[in-house]
Amino acid sequence: MIKANVDIAPYTTFNISARVKSLGIFSSTHELSEILEQHPTKEITVLGGGSNVLFTQNYEGLVLVNRIKGIAIVEEDDSSVVVQVGAGENWHEFVLQSISRGWGGIENLSLIPGSVGASPMQNIGAYGVEIKDVFQELTAFNIATGKEKTFDYAACEFGYRESIFKKALKGKYIITSVTYRLNKAHIVNTSYGAIESELENKSITNPTIKDVSDAVISIRQSKLPDPKKIGNAGSFFKNPVVSKSALKKIQEIHPDIPSYSLDDDRVKIPAGWLIDTAGWKGKRFGDYGVHTNQALVLVNYDNAKGQEIYDLSQRILDDIKERFGIHLEREVNVI
Ligand code: FAD
Ligand code: EPU
Repeated sequence: MIKANVDIAPYTTFNISARVKSLGIFSSTHELSEILEQHPTKEITVLGGGSNVLFTQNYEGLVLVNRIKGIAIVEEDDSSVVVQVGAGENWHEFVLQSISRGWGGIENLSLIPGSVGASPMQNIGAYGVEIKDVFQELTAFNIATGKEKTFDYAACEFGYRESIFKKALKGKYIITSVTYRLNKAHIVNTSYGAIESELENKSITNPTIKDVSDAVISIRQSKLPDPKKIGNAGSFFKNPVVSKSALKKIQEIHPDIPSYSLDDDRVKIPAGWLIDTAGWKGKRFGDYGVHTNQALVLVNYDNAKGQEIYDLSQRILDDIKERFGIHLEREVNVI
């Protein structure tokens, strides 16, 4: 069913109003084909949970909301399970269900908002794990031909918050299901500093996947705003990768700058630290601003406009470039 002239705010976690010309919700590839046959248009955006998008203006095309459900075991043995999940399933609910069924590998990705379908598109990541680590394959619907295609790990071209669906195949495919290989041996990954200290505080020395999930949930709740209370889309910028010589230059003025070595020549710097150090953290301008606990997150306090958030992101980009010589990239998908 297609609705005309819809306010997109409730379909996104920024909760920012913009009129969308047509909006269709589909629960199967059959329904998706039908909608596209009845409403042929070149301008299409697909949404899952709307937790990584910012609408800066009204949209004259068709927004499709993916609600394809279903969790099916494809293969199982004593050590692992291969599970195919409908792209419209809620990501965090799938994580919780996996933990309760004893399937490990995605506990570090607890409480990330949004849908299963966006997880490979974005190569979601948190606390030392990325979706590519458990990814097996996905099926996707070609908007131009109406045919479904399977993409394996190599075909997805995963990178940091990147995949082929954000680059060469941007806007061409709708992901309909994702297949993950999860483990039953539970090799927990607590290497990310904050998890270890959270477990220590609770005196947990031999953590289960549920303990790790609980720790991740408490850390996230302590610094990230709950979109139900304050509109946001998580990190607005990516963490930049710079050369070690560029880092050295910044260290002359800021010896305390945190960095994570990637290889002999390059390091990743937390953009949150750069934005915080530049004095933006907690800054509020009317109904929008920079979150008080995490400088990477831009927020809508009430009635902010998409363009205001975008303009703020541009002011931050320009300031960081001027102060540190580092070009930040937006992580959120701007429409
Ligand atoms: P949407 O916002 O609906 O869509 C995002 C993009 O993917 C759009 O370009 C859309 O067109 C495309 N897309 C969506 N579904 C499909 C599909 N089925 N087929 C093809 N393209 C599709 N992300 C992290 O990686 N790590 C985090 O720790 C993290 N923390 C967050 C915390 C908060 C509070 C919030 C609000 C967001 C956070 N995010 C994080 C960002 C967000 O949760 C992820 O990017 C998530 O995968 C987005 O899912 P979604 O279904 O909401 O995608
Ligand atoms: N920091 C500050 N001030 C801030 C924020 C961060 O100084 O306001 C510094 C601190 O030194 C901190 C470091 O930045 O130790 C890293 O901060 P944090 O652990 O919060 O992680 P992040 O790099 O800011 C990334 C992801 C998050 C993900 C966390 C946990 C990106 C763009 N963001 O944030 O993902 O949850 O790591 O793994 O990579 C998202 O993508 O939406 C998202 C929230």
